Amino acid sequence: MRKVLITGTSSGIGRATAQFLAERGYFVYAGVRQKAHLQIWEGVKNVKAMLFDVRRDDEINQVVEQIKTEAGGLYALVNNAGISNWGPILDIPNEVFRDNLETNLLGPIKVTRAFLPLLNGNSARIINISSVSGKLIFPFMGPYHVAKAALEAFSDTLRRELLINEMRNIKVVVVEPGSVATRLWDRAEATTVFAPSSPFYQTALSVGHAIIKQERAGAFPPELVSRAVWKALSVRRPKGRYIVSPQSLFFKLLLRLPDSWLDRLAYLIMRRHRRP
Ligand SMILES: NC(=O)c1ccc[n+]([C@@H]2O[C@H](COP(=O)([O-])OP(=O)(O)OC[C@H]3O[C@@H](n4cnc5c(N)ncnc54)[C@H](OP(=O)(O)O)[C@@H]3O)[C@@H](O)[C@H]2O)c1
Repeated sequence: MRKVLITGTSSGIGRATAQFLAERGYFVYAGVRQKAHLQIWEGVKNVKAMLFDVRRDDEINQVVEQIKTEAGGLYALVNNAGISNWGPILDIPNEVFRDNLETNLLGPIKVTRAFLPLLNGNSARIINISSVSGKLIFPFMGPYHVAKAALEAFSDTLRRELLINEMRNIKVVVVEPGSVATRLWDRAEATTVFAPSSPFYQTALSVGHAIIKQERAGAFPPELVSRAVWKALSVRRPKGRYIVSPQSLFFKLLLRLPDSWLDRLAYLIMRRHRRP
């Protein structure tokens, strides 16, 4: 039975994917960072919860040792845990920016470094859950975009570096969902991390809320992402990246537009949602 570790399985995409893979013959080590969430996976067939925070080296290393002892190795690692913050890029407090990068970028890097020795160099997979936001940039979502764009770069760098050593058959795959119906944006929206003294305050509030509302309205179920992860784990030659969205063609087209057109589009969106 192929063994897969997924981070951030207490809700959303991680939870759906752990369940999806477990039902399709994978054994899932399901990462959760809060003790209270261990019970989510109690009694679920083919799933074992592992308690760790992707920002904590000590907790990551404990889980590495536990899986090494128990299972010997892993077929795949799915870096899914993530958070989102929003606000004007220059007015996000440093500690919020740092927290975002610690979770969304350094977290996957640390986890990958720690678990790489457990992956079989002849056939393993590393799947990084990025986002369409790793490439397509909206105003006032800065920390999230910065972290996901860097995660994309990390993934491509790793894939290419692995080609030149004995781990060449570890496939590194980026999964880029559009808007998914999870708690991610509710959590972000619940906190305003920038001060009223920001010159962008009013615009950021109205535009940020409008974009989040729009994202939520067009959101699709997390199982669509789970299916893409499953495909990337199951096919012999996975692609380097998978855009997951009913609007994937639209995103691909947008990504081909010149920057000046995308700037204009962003301006029109801001103008439409700005309140005096
Ligand atoms: N929702 C979308 O529209 C969307 C679109 C594209 C990509 N994504 C990406 O999909 C991934 C999953 O997000 P989601 O939408 O499923 O949101 P979610 O429901 O909020 O799930 C996030 C998961 O990450 C965990 N997590 C957060 N910080 C962590 C840390 N430091 N250590 C370990 N686990 C941590 C959370 O655990 P707690 O419950 O303990 O906080 C939770 O299990 C993220 O990487 C996100 O960027 C989401």
